[in-house]
Amino acid sequence: MPKDFPLMPDQASTISSEVDLLYAFLVGMTLFFVGLIFLMVAIFAIRYRRRSSDEIPRPNFGSLRLEIVWSVIPLLISVGIFIWSASVFFDIQRVPANAMQVYGVGKQWMWKFQHPEGNREINELHVPAGRPVKITLTSEDVIHSFFVPAFRIKQDALPGRYTTTWFQATKPGTYHLFCAEYCGTQHSGMRGSVVVMEPAQYEAWLSGDASGGSMAARGEKLFNQLGCVTCHLPDGSGRCPSLVNVYGKSVKLITGEELVANDEYIRESVLHPNAKIVDAYQPIMPTYQGQVSEEGVLQLIAYIKSISSQVTEGTAAPGTTTPGTALPGATTPGAGTGTGTGTGPTPPGGAGSTNQSTPGGASAPNGINRSGQ
Ligand code: CUA
Repeated sequence: MPKDFPLMPDQASTISSEVDLLYAFLVGMTLFFVGLIFLMVAIFAIRYRRRSSDEIPRPNFGSLRLEIVWSVIPLLISVGIFIWSASVFFDIQRVPANAMQVYGVGKQWMWKFQHPEGNREINELHVPAGRPVKITLTSEDVIHSFFVPAFRIKQDALPGRYTTTWFQATKPGTYHLFCAEYCGTQHSGMRGSVVVMEPAQYEAWLSGDASGGSMAARGEKLFNQLGCVTCHLPDGSGRCPSLVNVYGKSVKLITGEELVANDEYIRESVLHPNAKIVDAYQPIMPTYQGQVSEEGVLQLIAYIKSISSQVTEGTAAPGTTTPGTALPGATTPGAGTGTGTGTGPTPPGGAGSTNQSTPGGASAPNGINRSGQ
């Protein structure tokens, strides 16, 4: 392929060659059958042409063997393509457990990113090479789509929902980022770049902007500013449930239903507080819709995560919580902190006073022990 006229974007992620191989196979197979069909048309047109004007063709009663052959071969080919594509699809969908986390918010007409360490950027995303990166996406307004051709990934960013995608960049460089869903007048201008850096360079870049603190620290600030702290007292004595050790744990609702407190649930509880009421509490919380941006919600989630023990990526998945941890006073097995889940009205003494570790090695915010407030 000529260098100044590339037919395909760079292969810059671990899955790009997988995707390209499948794509090449599909194109190759299509060309093969197009050629075969045209060839047969030409051969048959010559071979079985009408030779004299009074010729009467021999009657044809079909061939079962031929019918079976041209049914079974395409069937095998299609099933093969399905299995192959499904395996590539799962590779694209399955986020490696050791992936680092980045948060993206689509907005007319820009991409905003924040890193858990606190760095924020617009229309630019810095990531290290050789490390899986998980991106949690949402939208502030309409549907956008996060598309990095060189990584062969495309994922919609939907308002009111979190979607995820991941990639592992293989070589440093700057790659195009597009919005791939028509989202209004300046949709075509909603683009940016993904800057892939050597890991050491990336670390330097990360530490270059420490203003404002980590996402969790910003979240804590918001938690105080918005007044959440006045009701969600860490020791559970407030009018609203304590949020210490809630993340990733099972929560019992007033309807008797149980769910796992994940990102979606926390987001909904901030913006639509009355959608799900925790057992034994009153629906008194006002909505924070319009008062907090999607980025702010992500920061609040990061803060709630940071005051929960044993949070690792993936623990929010249903089924990973041991049954019974939602009972007031129950101790999370192996948590080692000795604190309750905080979802009940009377958590055991000492809840909230233990220093919890945060995922990813980010330093724990200091606001956990708030017994003086
Ligand atoms: Cu955002 Cu198109």
